[in-house]
Amino acid sequence: MKNPKLRTTLALTILALAFVIHALADDRDSFLRDVFERGFRFSSTVEFPGLVSQQHNACDPNCPIPAPDATLGRRNFGFSADQKTIENSLGLFQGQSHSVGAPTIVSNGRTCATCHRPDSVDTKGNVIDEINLGLPHTLPLSNVISLSDPLFTGRVADDNDHPQGFSNLNEHALVAIRPGRMDSLIPLDSPFRQLQVWRRSNRFVNTGLAIGMLHDNRGRDIQETARGAIFTHTQNADVRFDDLLRSPNPKFPMSGPPDFEERPRNIAAFIETVSISHPQLKAFLNPSDPAMNPMCSNAAGAMCKPADCLRVTGSASCDLYTVLVKDPFFTVPVRTEAQTRGRDLFKQQCMGCHNTPNVFSNIEHVPGNPLSFAPRPGHTFDIGVAQRNRFNLDFRTYICPNSVNPCAESQKTLVRVVLPLAKEDGTLVNVPVMVDPGSAGGTGRYEDLYRFKVPQLRRVARTGPYFHDNSADTLEQVLDYLTSDAFSNSADGRKFPIKLNDQQRKDLLEFLRIL
Ligand code: HEC
Ligand code: HEC
Repeated sequence: MKNPKLRTTLALTILALAFVIHALADDRDSFLRDVFERGFRFSSTVEFPGLVSQQHNACDPNCPIPAPDATLGRRNFGFSADQKTIENSLGLFQGQSHSVGAPTIVSNGRTCATCHRPDSVDTKGNVIDEINLGLPHTLPLSNVISLSDPLFTGRVADDNDHPQGFSNLNEHALVAIRPGRMDSLIPLDSPFRQLQVWRRSNRFVNTGLAIGMLHDNRGRDIQETARGAIFTHTQNADVRFDDLLRSPNPKFPMSGPPDFEERPRNIAAFIETVSISHPQLKAFLNPSDPAMNPMCSNAAGAMCKPADCLRVTGSASCDLYTVLVKDPFFTVPVRTEAQTRGRDLFKQQCMGCHNTPNVFSNIEHVPGNPLSFAPRPGHTFDIGVAQRNRFNLDFRTYICPNSVNPCAESQKTLVRVVLPLAKEDGTLVNVPVMVDPGSAGGTGRYEDLYRFKVPQLRRVARTGPYFHDNSADTLEQVLDYLTSDAFSNSADGRKFPIKLNDQQRKDLLEFLRIL
């Protein structure tokens, strides 16, 4: 349309028509959702820039980056071959370090598997056998994990013996986390380094298929996050010991330049592959590898058929990746009418945020600040969960004088950290930390207060309790929350109104249970 006048007139007419329809509609929200539904679309590319499987490992003889080894990664993670038994021979980090301020590291006996365990029972107590790798559903934890387990005996590494430390871990499965703890670019007494929050240990379901790691998205990829986890959970001191992360590798003799990334990289490769919930989703790990992303065909056992291609692209020839991107529910077959209605409700009311096709985390990358180099962090949202602080968690940090851990118990004090947060207009706002500040604790941006990553939702019926602070015990409670005033008054909840009558609630639950 070349004529700008005609274009404006047409736009105004459509707008006026929309207002008339709006006025006629009984329900303003359903009107808004209808508009949203018709404007609903996906990006034609879905990319996860932090994937280990896509790192370039085509080695010449002097290749500086050995290919990641997921089997070694599993042992570094702390699992035996069946991935059910904790086996720590290669999972402990200790020894003589040459990093500044860290001459000898003594392990507290913890491995990654201490907090990322396979599930033996589901949320309802039924016996299952799943590699969801989180803390058990059963609370208090001491009913199923012995108090002599390194989870409990090494607790001081996380919370410095915070007065709420034991009860928050035991009763709510929450771990004390200091987001800025190992950031050597900021001084030890900076509030961003002192900040301490309570978070549940993520379950690893489609972990590689998220944009950004950890509940507040401050970790850019699994490898970086693994390195941070090694430093923080295994010692009660704020020192890094990067040189202990190397292990003997034929391509990388110990006499050569150190490969500090080797163990985190192997661990990342293990998490990435073990966490994939449905075999087809492997196509996302490396779309350019035909073994992971086959062409659709009528052969027996094919993961997608030419008919699927025809439906989503209009042509009978395409690859699995294309089908996954164009049909967001390809791997979620609905069987009943209730599930079908639930899926449509999900599309209308949930996919504004949970929009990664077939995974249902959030696909959008945030360009530019705060981490303006690849891989870019993802979108986080304030839906009011932190401000509700259902368990009245105490967000003061239990700190040693001058923040030099460890120190005598009598010297420690509970400190209310005040974060100086920068607003987009350039002003600085001092925010006393009364509840979990979310992404702002990492970025220092006022606008990021109370924002959290949108979690993926596959197998969600089996991954409770829910939210970053385990504050919803069941999916029913999640829906109670999403239809509450706390959600609809929150900064981002307000933009995506959720309304469910009794029937719709039942239908949506039916759908969530088949994810
Ligand atoms: C003391 C318990 C504990 C131990 C031990 C532990 N983690 Fe975690 N893990 C957590 C908690 C709690 C979170 C969430 C932290 C947050 O949101 O700030 C987490 C989150 C993660 C995530 C982010 C997943 C996602 O979906 O965003 C990764 C990756 C991870 N851990 C890897 C590891 C690795 C690798 C190790 C071993 C080196 C390890 N963890 C050891 C408690 C633990
Ligand atoms: C405004 C964006 C937004 C909308 C709309 C939204 N969610 Fe979420 N959802 C989130 C965020 C952010 C979290 C994580 C909150 C936290 O950890 O504190 C979340 C968490 C969840 C969880 C918990 C998952 C877990 O592993 O802890 C479930 C289940 C869920 N949402 C389902 C839904 C359903 C069903 C709908 C539609 C009725 C919906 N969401 C709509 C942003 C949204």
